[in-house]
Amino acid sequence: MHLAHFDIDHFLCHHWQKRPLLIRNPWAAWRNPLEPDELAGLACDDDVEARLVIGDDARRVMESGPFGESRFGELGAGPWTLLVQAVDHQVPDVAALMEPFRFVPDWRIDDVMVSYASHGGGVGPHFDQYDVFLVQGLGQRRWRVGPVCDAQTPLLPHDDLRLIADFEASDEWVLNPGDILYVPPCFAHDGVAVGDDCMTYSIGFRAPSRAELVEGFCDHQTEHMVDEDRYADPDLARQAAPGEITAVAIDRLHALVTSALADRDAFARWFGAHNSQPKYDGDWRPDAPIDAATLRDSLAQAVPLARNPASRFAFMRLPDGNRLFVDGQDFDCAGALAGLAEQLCAGSELVVDPHWAGSADGLALIAALIDQGSVAFVEDD
Ligand code: SIN
Ligand code: CO
Repeated sequence: MHLAHFDIDHFLCHHWQKRPLLIRNPWAAWRNPLEPDELAGLACDDDVEARLVIGDDARRVMESGPFGESRFGELGAGPWTLLVQAVDHQVPDVAALMEPFRFVPDWRIDDVMVSYASHGGGVGPHFDQYDVFLVQGLGQRRWRVGPVCDAQTPLLPHDDLRLIADFEASDEWVLNPGDILYVPPCFAHDGVAVGDDCMTYSIGFRAPSRAELVEGFCDHQTEHMVDEDRYADPDLARQAAPGEITAVAIDRLHALVTSALADRDAFARWFGAHNSQPKYDGDWRPDAPIDAATLRDSLAQAVPLARNPASRFAFMRLPDGNRLFVDGQDFDCAGALAGLAEQLCAGSELVVDPHWAGSADGLALIAALIDQGSVAFVEDD
């Protein structure tokens, strides 16, 4: 899928992480990929994260799902909005919306949240830490955007919502079906439904915080540290003031910490696995490990392999091949296997070359991915 009149290089240079952009319906023929009723159905599912925000001012009330089927009928005529997380994991046509935005690498993509709002409904003025493409699916929404916010921005007192206290927008647009608004991190934004049946698809990105990286990598590195690995001073020299922690001691202590974190290869392996951890469990794990004959037959017959939409795939290039990361696991793919790793990361479905049916390494990799629920053979129906 390709967006017409959308210059990716110009966008990356002038807008990505810099300033908002309104893109008027760039789709060849926009079609709303999900019906409001289907979204309501997902919000009733135990495995789906959903919220309702009722009202249109500081007294907005938030309720968390899953919701009973009768809940939506009870909401009445006032403004409200339903927000459902990771709908791309449930609905292939919603997952397909991410395809034109893959000029941003997959590891930066989070998921697609879908909202439905009645007239006047919305979550209120707020800012997010992440980039987002807001695709208007159905109906109309008025977006007001700007300025850039931070931890000092005054918020309204609210237990569940982080609403900006004195929101004054610098831009305002009404979006129609197919229109897209790009909002960079920390830009204040407020979307209010104009008329009923307003559906918005938020294609959200992620960017790890320094705190998340430091904490996660430190935890990982400390896992295998032995008790004997500690400060030592066999060269201890007498010091004038016993109460002083000397610069020499600090240098040595600090080096213990920084050298443990300086291992770039260990960092790369940890990060790949960490970033590929699935956010929600798609549960495609088979009841029993796939048997070797079934696997070989399916590959030999070129049965397509589908990726679990909840799974996260990425690879890194190494001097002698690729390292594949899938759902928190890493797989060293040297030699010809490197190409298979790259193919697995390219798209949601692939036909694996039948010659892999004769390769022990290829069979082991695909069996491992099937057994951990990250891929499955597409069954004929
Ligand atoms: C919405 O769809 O109403 C909210 C999207 C957002 O502001 O991030
Ligand atoms: Co937002």
